[in-house]
Amino acid sequence: MPPTETVVVLDFGSQYAQLIARRVREQKVFARILPYSAPLADIAALNPVGIILSGGPANVYADNAPQGDAGIFTLGVPILGICYGCQWLCEELGGTVQRAARREFGAATLTITAPDELLDGLATATDGGLPVWMSHGDQIVKLPAGFKTLAQTATCPHAAMAQPEKKFYGVQFHPEVAHTPCGKDLLHNFLYRICGAQGNWEMRSFVEDAVAAAREKIGGANVVLALSGGVDSTVVALLLQRTVGARLHCIFVDNGVLRKNEYAKVVENYRRDFQLNLIPVSAGKIFLDRLAGVADPETKRKIIGHTFIDIFAEEARKIADCKFLAQGTLYPDVIESVAAHGGPTAVIKSHHNVGGLPEKLGFELVEPLRWLFKDEVRALGAELGMPEASIWRHPFPGPGLAVRIVGEVTAARVAVLQEADEIVMQEIQAAGWYRKVWQAFAVLLPVASVGVMGDERTYENTVALRVVDSLDGMTADWSRLPYDLLAKISGRIINEVRGVNRVVYDISSKPPSTIEWE
Ligand code: XMP
Repeated sequence: MPPTETVVVLDFGSQYAQLIARRVREQKVFARILPYSAPLADIAALNPVGIILSGGPANVYADNAPQGDAGIFTLGVPILGICYGCQWLCEELGGTVQRAARREFGAATLTITAPDELLDGLATATDGGLPVWMSHGDQIVKLPAGFKTLAQTATCPHAAMAQPEKKFYGVQFHPEVAHTPCGKDLLHNFLYRICGAQGNWEMRSFVEDAVAAAREKIGGANVVLALSGGVDSTVVALLLQRTVGARLHCIFVDNGVLRKNEYAKVVENYRRDFQLNLIPVSAGKIFLDRLAGVADPETKRKIIGHTFIDIFAEEARKIADCKFLAQGTLYPDVIESVAAHGGPTAVIKSHHNVGGLPEKLGFELVEPLRWLFKDEVRALGAELGMPEASIWRHPFPGPGLAVRIVGEVTAARVAVLQEADEIVMQEIQAAGWYRKVWQAFAVLLPVASVGVMGDERTYENTVALRVVDSLDGMTADWSRLPYDLLAKISGRIINEVRGVNRVVYDISSKPPSTIEWE
């Protein structure tokens, strides 16, 4: 389904490969990530307008250094190598890379030594230099034949190089990171001036293409979708509703560990705002019965996952002529990532919340978001008329509040946490912090402590407040909320939630902690 105009990003094990693809797409050119080991035929089949070689942790002169297919240099396609990608390109075309006398990590100043299309028009600092971000211990000491140096830094004599006739380029710095302010313009030059891209990647055309593709695949059959109330499944629902209308059946299961009033709100809003063909299933009691006495986090996850599949399958089987299961799988879930410590390890994650469903039901999968990054899904949601509040909804784990109740999950403990969680949401929103943080929530701990309320001694539960900043949930840091806001949340929880007499703030980052407590 990818549109015709594609840039291929070859991943040499960089932590930034996805970032490169996103930066390219931000410039309205579709980018697809392939492992560095992708065969030439696979790359050529995509008919790319350009190829970008990512960085990577290896030394290009080492025995086991990742090697791409050198056939890419015969495709007649412009190529931009970044960091390791630049060094691999250099060695492959006859240049030399060696360990640098001085490593270069962090901010550096780039000085242009020869004008070229790649670096043309980039905004310089007042001293005439270009701030760039470096991260390398090796560097190019001899250019391949036909190449010229475009720019240098204090310690890196060939920080950018080019063979303009063949349109081969290399930069030692990282144009994809925010710390290289001119990186966006450099990529723009590469895409539009060097690759001659048209820039046809936009949400409007994606919707048309995705609807047409889904229509062709689904034909007159019925489709079933597990709606969670989250952004991804909602966007899939709206997209497929455009495609098959009421033949899309959205099953929404109350698993007993949703947020306060979430079930009723989703059912009401989704029917009213989106006229979705919704099948609500109130199954909280079944889930809580099966969770009784279980304290281990992974066992909780498994029980919830299996119970969900049982209930969903039972409902789905009632739908006549249903051949397809729609899922909100995103691009990061399907990229064959290259392990940084020496690939190629193909890591293809299955959608963790509904994993197992396709096998159980024998349905064919429809995954209209499998080419999109999260920020693109949000843009798509806007295109499809989703309200802002739904588009920017924080991620909420499939096992819900069960993994935020440390220890056994009971109806009473769920009720306590729902009250605390609601206060957190209200106050974070009222203070204008909801959009600034990745997630904000309360965790109910199995720790009772002594307190005093009025003249009474209390011995009640502790709630931990967890608020984090993150870009993708993979790494995170605790949010520096204002003390006044923390005080307000704590005060309200202790005063309003029966059974809680202490609130603590979690100041751990991920890694080494995780975002959720379980
Ligand atoms: P952790 O706790 O691993 O969380 O740092 C990273 C992100 O994933 C979410 N999360 C889950 N989502 N099912 C889900 O659908 C799960 O079992 C699950 N566990 C964690 C978490 O909320 C955070 O956004």
